Amino acid sequence: MSDKLWGGRFTGKAAEWVDEFGASIGFDYRLAEEDLEGSLAHVKMLGQQGIISIDEAKQISAGLHDIQADLAAGKVEFSVANEDIHLNIESLLTKKIGPVAGKLHTGRSRNDQVATDFHLWVKHRLPAVKEAITELQQTLLDLAEKHADVIMPGYTHMQHAQPISYGHYLLAYFEMFQRDFERFEFNEKHTNMLPLGAAALAGTTFPIDRQLVADELGFDAIYHNSLDAVSDRDFALEFLSNASILMVHLSRMAEELILWGTYEFNYIELSDNFSTGSSIMPQKKNADFAELVRGKTGHVFGSLMGLLTVMKGLPLAYNKDMQEDKAATFEVMDTILASVKVFTGMLSTMTVHADRMEAATKDDFSNATELADYLATKGVPFRQAHAAVGELVLKGIQTGQTLNEMSLADLQAADSHIEEDVYEELTSKAAVNRRTSLGGTAVENVLKEISRGQDIVNAH
Ligand code: ARG
Repeated sequence: MSDKLWGGRFTGKAAEWVDEFGASIGFDYRLAEEDLEGSLAHVKMLGQQGIISIDEAKQISAGLHDIQADLAAGKVEFSVANEDIHLNIESLLTKKIGPVAGKLHTGRSRNDQVATDFHLWVKHRLPAVKEAITELQQTLLDLAEKHADVIMPGYTHMQHAQPISYGHYLLAYFEMFQRDFERFEFNEKHTNMLPLGAAALAGTTFPIDRQLVADELGFDAIYHNSLDAVSDRDFALEFLSNASILMVHLSRMAEELILWGTYEFNYIELSDNFSTGSSIMPQKKNADFAELVRGKTGHVFGSLMGLLTVMKGLPLAYNKDMQEDKAATFEVMDTILASVKVFTGMLSTMTVHADRMEAATKDDFSNATELADYLATKGVPFRQAHAAVGELVLKGIQTGQTLNEMSLADLQAADSHIEEDVYEELTSKAAVNRRTSLGGTAVENVLKEISRGQDIVNAH
């Protein structure tokens, strides 16, 4: 017999390096608290159901509590020889309380055990993700309020398109992060489900009470099919997918922060606390943290692709491939929590150069649509107005004049409907504030959306 916990039918012994290849303790040690929590609930149920005696259940519970204390005190050492967190803890328990420890695994398999631990691990951390997103959203609302009436160029194709309120720009990200929040909230539904009780794959002959375990662990629902319970990693895939979409948003904003902090744009300046210098160029102030978030996005996508690929060809029920589900999920959790936090810090400490943003809307043709709309409201068909303004833009490029710098006579040469009142409408401020359609950039809209956003965040 081999010295493994499952060694009864084995006579041969794998080399240490083979054990090492198969072991997951190098990363699943992070499930230690959840494993203990799951075992405590399981043993309580075994005792209450009379599957083991109350006294045995008490001894096992006491041993598990002891290990919890050791763990908190940093006194626990795990070994590769014991393969994974489940066998490591069982072996520690045996050392503490002797052979009665062997009763803990009654009616349970590592397959439903690991699924339960993993569900618990994600379940415990989703609230922190939602909290971090909420803080970021609050920061965006505060910034938007402060800068609601700052006018900046809005871009399409990276070309000046139409002026917008900087607050409006910030609220666009608020909306994205709200959808992220909702996705993680939905993620909780499929995470808060109890697999334990499925045993290896087919359920168990013992008179277990799964509801009791679910209540004990705070799960809202129970898997109703034992094969599904031990094979399902949708909750992790959903988490990685939600994390990927969240990172898309952070990465897009990171790109803008990096670009807008350049000498050429100079719309914003990140604080010293969220910038780094160069070891050779003394003048440098680099947006390293925004760049890192943009870079880490690649890893997060990779983790999603990785787990999708691990799962895609797996026959029911458990396969060891699924051991590969955890490391990436742990890492992605760390990455998104840190990335969102970095963003909250960067945004709340940066300087906004409103003057630079506004200046960029003054010497361009981003009010061309304004002039076309102006003509359209005077009854000129929009296509005709568009063509007339296009000619004026061409003329302006040739003479080095913006539309509002042209004389009334020059403007009227393009279309006689143009009158003196046009100049007021050609300012970028007017262009912004006339866009009062629902979802438009007018400052009065932005202020309304900030208060709507505040209600949303308060309800989180
Ligand atoms: N370490 C394993 C994992 O993470 C635990 C489950 C092992 N089950 C088994 N039948 N080998 O997936």
